[in-house]
Amino acid sequence: MNKLSGKVAVVTGAARGIGRAVARAFALEGAMVYGADREVSELEFEMNALRESGWTAQAVALDLLKPDSVAALAKTVLEQQGRIDILANVAGVIIEKHLVDTTLEEWDTILNINLRGVFLMCKAFAPSMKHAESGSIMNVSSRAGVMGFANEIAYCASKFGLEGLSRAIAKDLEVYGIAVNTITPGVPTQTSMSMQTYSEETKKIWKDPILITPAFVELALQSSSGIHDQYVNAWQRSEELRAAGWAT
Ligand SMILES: NC(=O)c1ccc[n+]([C@@H]2O[C@H](COP(=O)([O-])OP(=O)(O)OC[C@H]3O[C@@H](n4cnc5c(N)ncnc54)[C@H](O)[C@@H]3O)[C@@H](O)[C@H]2O)c1
Repeated sequence: MNKLSGKVAVVTGAARGIGRAVARAFALEGAMVYGADREVSELEFEMNALRESGWTAQAVALDLLKPDSVAALAKTVLEQQGRIDILANVAGVIIEKHLVDTTLEEWDTILNINLRGVFLMCKAFAPSMKHAESGSIMNVSSRAGVMGFANEIAYCASKFGLEGLSRAIAKDLEVYGIAVNTITPGVPTQTSMSMQTYSEETKKIWKDPILITPAFVELALQSSSGIHDQYVNAWQRSEELRAAGWAT
């Protein structure tokens, strides 16, 4: 359980769902985890629980809608640790609406959290990774990043944008040895987002998000000469890693 020992990780969306599971998995593998989220009391509860179990984790309030909040997070992490090894951009939001019902405000909110927020996070932490000539960035995408879904106008646009952003960042950062990938859950997971979006049928088969975290741990260990510039299916890869005995 020490695959990430000595590494510094930042996980957005760490108060709930997939981000909470990823923060937990990174901490259990020995990383110093900075969990960041706008739901501060839930986030602190989660990070305290990790610390009480003997792991290293710290809560930092973050609102991805506010560039100053992203800058403050980067300042905190880089002043305290002097570096970052792993950046997991997991936070995201969805509003399910038809094209004609989607308001400009809803469009802006979703694009600003899911896409501009990731741009700001990568921009804030890339200089430190470039300086170290190492690091791994993973941006949580979706099937909605590669195919269209009805009533997911702004969400699909944000995730397709995230795919493009990530492919371009991968090219900018690969000469510095930094791995940049997108990762999609690959299976229905039980989270507060899917509570709203999944049908009752799908809820019968959803899985605990902790089951997709081995793929995130594997990505955290990559450089640009390893798994890089890929769209990773977290469930499929985690199953492969379990079958190979690399993860439980
Ligand atoms: N749940 C699914 O089935 C599913 C499927 C495909 C992709 N995803 C993606 O996985 C990621 C995590 O989703 P989830 O299902 O765990 O959702 P969730 O709603 O359970 O968790 C999302 C987290 O992001 C945080 N967040 C939202 N807006 C924020 C902001 N402005 N600043 C800081 N934090 C903010 C929330 O507080 C929450 O803790 C998202 O990017 C989502 O698009 C989820």
